[in-house]
Amino acid sequence: MDDQRISETLAAIDAAADVDAVEAIRIAALGKQGWISLALKSLGAMASEERTKAAPAIQAAREKIANALAEKKAALDDAALEASLASETLDLTLPASEVPKGSVHPVSQVMDELAEIFADMGFAVATGPEIEDDWHNFTALNMPESHPARAMHDTFYFPQQEGVDHRMLLRTHTSPVQVRTMVSQGAPLRIIAPGRVYRSDSDATHTPMFHQVEGLVIDRGIHLGHLKWTLETFLKAFFEREDIVLRLRPSYFPFTEPSVEADVGFALENGRRVLGGSGDEPGHGWMELLGSGMVNRRVIEMSGLDPDEWQGFAFGVGVDRLAMLKYGMDDLRAFFDGDVRWLRHYGFSPFDQPTLSAGVGARA
Ligand code: PHE
Repeated sequence: MDDQRISETLAAIDAAADVDAVEAIRIAALGKQGWISLALKSLGAMASEERTKAAPAIQAAREKIANALAEKKAALDDAALEASLASETLDLTLPASEVPKGSVHPVSQVMDELAEIFADMGFAVATGPEIEDDWHNFTALNMPESHPARAMHDTFYFPQQEGVDHRMLLRTHTSPVQVRTMVSQGAPLRIIAPGRVYRSDSDATHTPMFHQVEGLVIDRGIHLGHLKWTLETFLKAFFEREDIVLRLRPSYFPFTEPSVEADVGFALENGRRVLGGSGDEPGHGWMELLGSGMVNRRVIEMSGLDPDEWQGFAFGVGVDRLAMLKYGMDDLRAFFDGDVRWLRHYGFSPFDQPTLSAGVGARA
């Protein structure tokens, strides 16, 4: 073995300034064509006696150099870590006003407000998957395969998978959570289910993704009066006014029977719709707000409960729409642009938790 070459290599490793230099030395010595590797290879051509003499020195040199390389690399890595730790310190004692502030998105704020209002009426929050199967999204909600209401939903379907019975899709409403909750928790039930829903639709009042909150009550002897009281109590608490007037209009949903659409009365003030009062007064009008009804007994049955024992009501309402009405935004698309100026204007302070005692909608 060339002792001088070994000590030169060790000295070069010691002097290397960065990992690239270390790597270059490694390749020159231990790489495929490196001089140590070639020396090792030359052993094969030697007579066995000669090999026994030469091998230990080459092996020892290889080990020495490999160890020196590993040590040097570890030392350089440590130094790099120390340097980045030193340069990336974050002073947590700085006053918060020096740092850009985040704000709570109106959709999150409204969802928190809804959870607070309904918790006070004994409702728990339930969730379900956004990637749903067509059984939960349609079939169990009394929309069998060829039902025309399926076509009305502008559904985003996933490609059909082989060996999978149910077609997968992005849920078109939060109603599948009704089914999932009845199946998993049985009765009685009082839940709201807020979340994202998807429909292939896009203009100033429709975005392909939007938010709904579903409500479901299942118990014995539930009737339309319970639904009306619950909606009225919720809307008065949400809009923080006692003069909210509801009009229930006969409607149709496959999963409720009877179905009712709820309109709220508004007055026009300076060209803007202000909720409150009956829509029948002069200068007033009605605005469609949500869909609801008594849960269809077929849905209760398909969810594994006995419809002769359990009845209930359900409703579904657009969260974005509620936010626009309460806080006065006029273009739904701005909700999903992520424009910080819009968020700064309409956003809420994270310290401003909605509570019934302090008010569910204090402005930031
Ligand atoms: N799922 C319906 C929709 O998205 C709303 C609804 C929910 C209607 C519950 C009745 C009962 O339009």
